[in-house]
This record gives sequence, structure tokens and C-alpha cells, in this order.
Amino acid sequence: MVAAVRVHKAGGPEVLTFEDIEVPAPGPGQVKLKQHASGINFIDTYFRMGMYPSPVGMPFVAGNEGAGEVIAVGPGVADLKIGDRVGYVVPLGAYSAERVLPAERAVKLPAHIGYEQAAATMLKGMTVCYLLRRTFDVKKGTTVLIHAADGGIGLIACQWANALGATVIGTVGSKEKAELAKANGCHHTILYREEDFAARVKEITAGALCDVVYDGVGKTTFPASLDCLRPLGLFVSFGSSSGPIDAFNIGLLQAKGSLFATRPTLNTYAAKREDLLKLASETFEVIGSGKVKIPINQKYALKDAQKAHRDLESRATTGASILVP
Ligand SMILES: NC(=O)c1ccc[n+]([C@@H]2O[C@H](COP(=O)([O-])OP(=O)(O)OC[C@H]3O[C@@H](n4cnc5c(N)ncnc54)[C@H](OP(=O)(O)O)[C@@H]3O)[C@@H](O)[C@H]2O)c1
Repeated sequence: MVAAVRVHKAGGPEVLTFEDIEVPAPGPGQVKLKQHASGINFIDTYFRMGMYPSPVGMPFVAGNEGAGEVIAVGPGVADLKIGDRVGYVVPLGAYSAERVLPAERAVKLPAHIGYEQAAATMLKGMTVCYLLRRTFDVKKGTTVLIHAADGGIGLIACQWANALGATVIGTVGSKEKAELAKANGCHHTILYREEDFAARVKEITAGALCDVVYDGVGKTTFPASLDCLRPLGLFVSFGSSSGPIDAFNIGLLQAKGSLFATRPTLNTYAAKREDLLKLASETFEVIGSGKVKIPINQKYALKDAQKAHRDLESRATTGASILVP
């Protein structure tokens, strides 16, 4: 039996139950990991509250990102062996001291990536990679708006977009968060709880507006995010930390300048193993170069998963959070 955090019924942070579970031996194509750290992500709250249905029914082990050491290998697994250090992002199962994982979703960690770093990189770092390098080609001369620029995704995105030569504008929830975003490569910050962020973007860019808006906040920043885009600009709605966008009138894209809009997810961009490995190696490389650091600003014991979710949902965190068994 090993310690894990399970959800037996959908609800608030109180449904995260710290308990012992049995972890089976790995089946064909699977490996078993001794986990060293698990990432905490907003998506974990969507599964917990039932906004995203659990693919394995109830109860389920929460968490979607982690890293650990291979301790057993199932039949048919050729490229992993006991002792290998791996990271992964898969739906559910991460908040646990041990777990079984499909080998084809495990990525070997290079020596310069530690377990805790990997537990905040596999989902958040690779998401930033596809958002900046696949969904849009951010480069010198690009102006980007990143909402919640101080968050797990936000701080990585600010550093990476800055390293690519972009002008980075970020919205943040407080003055302290603004300082942190600036220290992580954000050129201009906007206090979006007090200021009209679309008007400020217009002012900062002298009317030129942004080429791309990265919006993981959702409900409270829509549709004003569209007013931050230049004609033919791209609206990337990649999350809903304030709640989902209820209705999307496609006519808005015409009215606001023949805009483009997309609602991407890492699952699609990393669906094929070759794409997963490319995203991972690009992300490990930018970390290795020192251009992007993974800021782990909150670390909780596995038994404190409820507090970790409360902190995340009450906007009390900055950067990445992890759980350690
Ligand atoms: N599509 C994908 O592939 C993908 C992958 C990973 C993550 N995501 C999405 O990216 C977003 C960020 O994820 P994360 O894990 O890095 O979280 P996070 O940004 O660290 O935390 C959420 C932040 O959102 C801001 N926020 C604004 N309104 C909020 C509200 N009503 N309640 C709570 N927070 C609010 C807060 O920052 P301020 O105080 O500065 O406002 C808060 O700190 C989430 O929407 C997540 O679902 C999407």
C-alpha cells in the first residue's frame, strides 16, 4: 500500500482524500514509478469538481503531471529499464507515491532536469512550448499579451517569449505579482482587477495592439481579450481559471478585425509520441540554456493536497506548485 490522494465524489478541495491505495504491477506496455514529485495544475481542479469527467470513473487518483524513477517494467517495454528517471503528463494518477504509467507517455529526463523541476515542466513547460512555438510563431517583433502572467504557465511564458525576442505584456492580480512577472521577462504589466486592460494594451502599444493573446483566465477576460488584438491577430483561449467562456459568437471575430481564434490543448499537440518527445526536448533545452527557469514557488506534502488546491483557486500562489510524497 502507498499514500495517494483520491477523489470519491466531485466537489471542492475537501473531496481530495489522503489515503493508502494498492498499486498493481505494470501490465503490458506499462512501467511502475516511485514518484518523487507531482505537479499541481489548474486542470486538476477541473477534474476534481467534475467539469472534466474522469476517464477512469470514481474513485480516481488526482493529478496529471509528475516525475519519478522506474521501479518495475511490464511485458513488451523495450526502451525503459529499472532505475530510469522519467517525467510525464497523462490524465490522472499523479498524486500518489507510486503509480503505473503507459511507457509510451514516459519521457526520459536529461541529467540537468531534477525530479521536482520535471514535475513542474512536463505539463506547464511543454504547454508554453507548444503555445509559443506551434500555435503561434512568437519571435522578434511579436507583441504578446499573457493573462495571469505570474502563474505557473504565466512565468514560464513570460521568460520564454522574452527570450524569443517578443514584447511581452502581462496582466496580473496584484502589485507584488507585477514585480514578479517583470523579474521574469514581462516588459509591461497591467493590474487587470483595477485597470481596463484592453485600454492599457492600446496605450502601451501606441494603438498597434497585440499579434497574439494567450488567455488562460477565460470568463472574466472575455471578450475584452479580443480588443487587444490587431486585425488578423490570434486569440488563444487555453484555459478557464476564472470559469469557462459560456458562449462564443463567431461574428465577434469579423467585427473586431477578421481575427483568428483557437482553443488548444497539450493533449492534441503531444498526442503522437514523436511530438511529445520533440516538445519535451525543446523545453529541456531552453531550461538547460538558462533562458527559462521553472519557478517552483510552492511545495506541499502529499497529505496537504487540499491546501494546495485552496491556495491555487484563491489566487494565493505564484509560479508553479508541486506535491512531494
Ligand atoms: N490548454 C492547455 O494545454 C493547458 C495546459 C496547462 C494549463 N492550462 C490552463 O492554463 C491556465 C493556468 O494554469 P496554471 O496551472 O498555470 O494556473 P495559474 O496560472 O498558476 O493559477 C491561476 C491564476 O489565474 C488567475 N486568475 C484569474 N482569475 C481567477 C479566478 N477567478 N480564480 C482563480 N484564479 C484566477 C490568478 O492570477 P492573478 O491573481 O494574477 O489573476 C491565479 O493565480 C489554466 O486556465 C489552465 O487550465 C491549459
